[in-house]
Amino acid sequence: MRHLMSPLDFSVEELEELFQLADDIEKNPAKYAHACAGKKLATCFYEPSTRTRLSFEAAMLNLGGSIFGFSDANSSSAAKGESVSDTIRIISCYADICAMRHPKEGAPMVAASRSTIPVINAGDGGHQHPTQTLTDLLTIRAIKGRLNNFTIGLCGDLKFGRTVHSLINALVRYSNINFIFISPDELRVPEYITEMLREKNISFQEVTRLEDVMPELDILYMTRVQKERFFNEEDYVRLKDFYILNKEKMELAKDDMIVLHPLPRVNEISVEVDDDPRAVYFRQVQYGVYVRMALLLTLLEIKVE
Ligand code: CP
Repeated sequence: MRHLMSPLDFSVEELEELFQLADDIEKNPAKYAHACAGKKLATCFYEPSTRTRLSFEAAMLNLGGSIFGFSDANSSSAAKGESVSDTIRIISCYADICAMRHPKEGAPMVAASRSTIPVINAGDGGHQHPTQTLTDLLTIRAIKGRLNNFTIGLCGDLKFGRTVHSLINALVRYSNINFIFISPDELRVPEYITEMLREKNISFQEVTRLEDVMPELDILYMTRVQKERFFNEEDYVRLKDFYILNKEKMELAKDDMIVLHPLPRVNEISVEVDDDPRAVYFRQVQYGVYVRMALLLTLLEIKVE
């Protein structure tokens, strides 16, 4: 039995197999419509979500399976003090696979250690968000046609942004990736990540101004400054609108540069950018469903011929 806690849980070769399966699902949805008949997905979300929870649920429904779960810790027995370890032992009696989001780093890992069904980390605090990374990689691979040889700018909250941490971890396994980290000083990428990049001899730079690096980028990964991760309101208010991607800034970019965002967006991308063909964040959402369908099939060890 396999769980998914980090994008590194799959080798590059296994990821490529997963992406090929996602490609086939996109092209032949009818072939997979009953693949998970009789299987049940539990979505245990202790933190708010729109995309991750609903795309997992859409993925299982597209595969002919069933779904149940909770979308708020307060509507589960966590509100009465039940531990994640106990909860997953209960869920293991009801479901075949579980996607779990939790505000505490490592909570899905604790669940996996006690579970008798596969557990998927659907985001744990400021730590990792592996299925967002699978979504990001599939989107880049589909639109750019490759997962190597590019300069990617990651912009916004690089300190608490779990999608950023997971994506960097995943991309270092591909060749010739140049990272540009764009953030205010207070939200710089954690030191353990820059140390890891230095150790692996991977090229990166840290800058504050987005405009200065726009012309260099093949991919711009925008992120939200996350109110829920700040300890005080004053710091959040000071930093929340530090970056706003607008039409003027897009004019500085290459014609084939693409803009990704894990969403939700607040103010960091002006809505006027949405109509630019280089803005692919809504297409990215659709790739999230295909890759989660591929992941459910893979972890449930279901093969469709
Ligand atoms: N990208 C993402 O994790 O969105 P949700 O918080 O809506 O799931």
